[in-house]
Amino acid sequence: MVAVMFVCLGNICRSPAAEGVLRHLASKHPDADIHIESCGIGDWHVGQLPDERMRDAAKSRGLVLASRGQQFKPEFLDKFDYILAADKAVLRDLYFHAKSPEHKAKIHLMTEFSSCYKGQEIPDPYYGGDPGFERVLDMLEDSCEGLIEQIKNNNK
Ligand code: 4NP
Repeated sequence: MVAVMFVCLGNICRSPAAEGVLRHLASKHPDADIHIESCGIGDWHVGQLPDERMRDAAKSRGLVLASRGQQFKPEFLDKFDYILAADKAVLRDLYFHAKSPEHKAKIHLMTEFSSCYKGQEIPDPYYGGDPGFERVLDMLEDSCEGLIEQIKNNNK
């Protein structure tokens, strides 16, 4: 089993969307046994459903976002195989908690395995309008396709 943790700032827009996109893709790849969660650097939205605008945009692509907000804990660096950050600020926070080369090796941007968006940040849609949510999903769909391939090829 491979464990994937998506991390953003609030855990109500980008990372729960990433979780939903990868969960949907993983259901089409039963040979890839993947445990998927998401969390936020901040604690403002712990226990909450994702932002309604994000849920609506996901729903029109057939994705149900039903996870509840949780805050990042340093122990996740031991428990998960891939720790994927929405943007470079989140990436820096995660590296701050990484205590070993093994921890550091698990941390990447969410777009790391994307064919179209590799190295780009997923823009925070929280204070923007609806197009921001579609953009997040476009970027995450391509990124998660690449991640599934990476997991299947590496068997981890
Ligand atoms: P997210 O977006 O990091 O993609 O979940 C945000 C949601 C909420 C806040 C910031 C970013 N906030 O400050 O409450």
